[in-house]
Amino acid sequence: MVASSGSGQREGWSSRSAFILAAVGSAVGLGNMWRFPAEAGENGGGAFVLFYIFCVLLIGLPVLLSEVLIGRHGQASAPESVRRVARDSNASGGWSIFGSMGVFAAFLILSFYCVVGGWVVYYIGVFAADLFQTGLTGGAFEGREASDIENLLPGLFGNGSLMVGLNLGFLAVTVFFVARGISSGIEWVAVYLMPMFFVLFLGITIYGAFSGNFGEAVAYLFTFDASKLTGEVMLAAVGQAFFSLSLGVAGMMTYGAYASRETNLGETSGVIAGADTAVALLAGLAIFPIVFAAGLSASAGPGLMFQSLPIAFQAMPFGSLIGLAFFIMVFFAALTSSVSLLEAPTAFVKDAGKLPRPVATLIVGVGAAILGVLSALSFNEMADFRPLAFIPIFAEANFFDALDGVTAKLFMPIGAILTCIFVGWVADARLIDDENGLDGALHQIWRGLVRYVCPILLTVILLAGIFPEYAETVFSLLSSEPAAELGEAAG
Ligand code: PFF
Repeated sequence: MVASSGSGQREGWSSRSAFILAAVGSAVGLGNMWRFPAEAGENGGGAFVLFYIFCVLLIGLPVLLSEVLIGRHGQASAPESVRRVARDSNASGGWSIFGSMGVFAAFLILSFYCVVGGWVVYYIGVFAADLFQTGLTGGAFEGREASDIENLLPGLFGNGSLMVGLNLGFLAVTVFFVARGISSGIEWVAVYLMPMFFVLFLGITIYGAFSGNFGEAVAYLFTFDASKLTGEVMLAAVGQAFFSLSLGVAGMMTYGAYASRETNLGETSGVIAGADTAVALLAGLAIFPIVFAAGLSASAGPGLMFQSLPIAFQAMPFGSLIGLAFFIMVFFAALTSSVSLLEAPTAFVKDAGKLPRPVATLIVGVGAAILGVLSALSFNEMADFRPLAFIPIFAEANFFDALDGVTAKLFMPIGAILTCIFVGWVADARLIDDENGLDGALHQIWRGLVRYVCPILLTVILLAGIFPEYAETVFSLLSSEPAAELGEAAG
């Protein structure tokens, strides 16, 4: 147990490896299996992927360490942890605003994350039923047209009550585990489900590599074409890096608060970021070969995992079994992430209201359920509702997409910029040195990244992503293109 800086005994991870598993569990989720391939495919493949890796190393990793460090020092919910670091640094408690923003963003993400979690449950049902009907050895969905398989998702979208039911079901499971607490709920899920996830994941990746079009997938994901690296692609990549590493939204700060003093946070952050990035890249290398081998398009976006992949499973031996294993694996990954999304606001409500954990969990859960219904219905019943139409980059976004866009592209980068300024410039350097577990050159590099590189780079990317047309003009001015082309780009 971790000693408290407040009153009473605080909950904590039972060991360093439990912390790592829980944090990796938070990081690895729908972001890796569903969002990463979709974003890579929609944003031109290699340019996105390589810039994504750059973002993880130069921005994600330093921010991750900054967040867990604040949490571990504060030993409380995210806003309270920031306030305690500020107090111990003689700085204004007003900095806790980015902790509160993070908690709110985590709550928003939770509400739509469970909608996608519900789709995963649906596909588990679809493949289980198919396995029962077509048997073990053949391909999935024997005798059915590809269009039938593709239509499963629109069919689900068209059924509002099923969408809402699945969403609430997934959320209820999440609430159940978070209400049980850190060691018997969240840690339990991570310790049992993450190893099973990794076994299934490795199996499916190897299967994808041997039975699909692996070479084409590698070329697609790793060929860098600088001309594709626009402001929007860069913001999408940085947003994806944050989403995938659970950053900028208080998730990792909250988990850091349960880490013991003995845990080396620098080392642990490296393990978390490494594992998450490896899973994202391997997920790309598992999904794209299968999709390419079936002659399907990489840019199918959000439909890639739910439409293209099931079609691809049709042509494969053991297709229903592989499909079932795949979606069970995604379910495990999604649940270990959704518990962290719920834990961030729950810890806040519990601390702020001095409420018992189950009550706090339920309050947040009911809020997420109400908001989640709007997301669940935004694919059919409320498809024309565009809440952020006044912001050009979100003009076309329905309620679900608007929440996804606004959290990954605004809340997360802004939260991270504030975290860097706070840790790099405001907090007492001795306090930070004492927590970060880095020495020598690594410490200097990290400090330089947090103080200068991350905030500057993030601000540039944020502006470039929000105002793409201005960014294009600036990029062309900076590049050595002839004047004629410059005029075209600006116009
Ligand atoms: N990192 C998770 C994923 O990749 O699916 C999503 C997530 C979890 C984002 C927790 C933010 C968070 F606080």
